[in-house]
Amino acid sequence: MSTLRPALSSTLALLGSTTLLVSMTAQADALEQQRQDLQHFQVIAHRGASGYAPEHTWYAYDKALAMGADYLELDIHMSADGRLVAIHDTTLERTTDGQGLVKEHSLDELKALDAGSWFNAAHPEYADDAYAGAKLLTLDDVIDRYGQDVRYYIETKSPKDYPELQDALVSRLEAEGLVQSGSVVIQSFSQASLQEVHKLNPDIPLIQLLWYSPGEDGDTLEEWTGVTPSPANITDADFQAIADYADGVGPNYLYEGEPVIDARFIEQAHANDLLVHVYTINDKDRMRRLLDWGADGLFTNFPDRLKEVRAEAE
Ligand code: G3P
Ligand code: CA
Repeated sequence: MSTLRPALSSTLALLGSTTLLVSMTAQADALEQQRQDLQHFQVIAHRGASGYAPEHTWYAYDKALAMGADYLELDIHMSADGRLVAIHDTTLERTTDGQGLVKEHSLDELKALDAGSWFNAAHPEYADDAYAGAKLLTLDDVIDRYGQDVRYYIETKSPKDYPELQDALVSRLEAEGLVQSGSVVIQSFSQASLQEVHKLNPDIPLIQLLWYSPGEDGDTLEEWTGVTPSPANITDADFQAIADYADGVGPNYLYEGEPVIDARFIEQAHANDLLVHVYTINDKDRMRRLLDWGADGLFTNFPDRLKEVRAEAE
């Protein structure tokens, strides 16, 4: 009897550490697989298949997945009671029958809103009676439905309004095993938000969003938050500063129909080990051009169109 117990406990200890080792290896493999997949052109469903159904609803997400999107893009705000809610605007007027700031409404109040009827009015060509009464969704709702079978491309929206957003988001994703399973990318226009996420969990792939538009002189392009100078004046050092915390950049392609980036921008980003995911491209000719220029992925409201364009190029 006495000799058995030490033997048993060391066997159990060995078993325990082996199991841990196996799961850590599996996690490392999943993260590595995600990074390898990101080297291939990605179809990112912008707010879901938001060209065909009300953005950030089950209809838009289910359609995007049925169309074979690689990532579901989610914009995240926080409710007054601290829940992570998928909605683009800081206010409710455009995509619900509500009014005012998202952050001034409790989840119960947000859940009582109709987040679908507006779409039928705005897009009669894709209208569907089923959309009326569609609900706003929390990140938890989305994770409960799709789990680790789907990849999520999550934007921290207006982090200045939600100082606790980064911590709440990363803890939620870790708790659901979504970081370790290689199922999430986090994106933001806010450099500070991404740098905080990087500190919280350096395993999460990060994309620095960029918005280029004409500055006060009406000519020179400026980046909204000053992360970079104009595309024409970007240096390797500017890109390297982003590469310190992020895996890629997410620039707009057009400003009022005029291109603001070109093939040289993508080449230079690549030369500095940065992926380039361009937003928001719904036109097939533009999809083909950006694919030709070497973009690593595009945000689109029409994932089916982008899948077809990608298939043409394969
Ligand atoms: O997140 C990428 C792109 O969607 C950024 O613009 O305003 O659509 O969130 P926005
Ligand atoms: Ca977004």
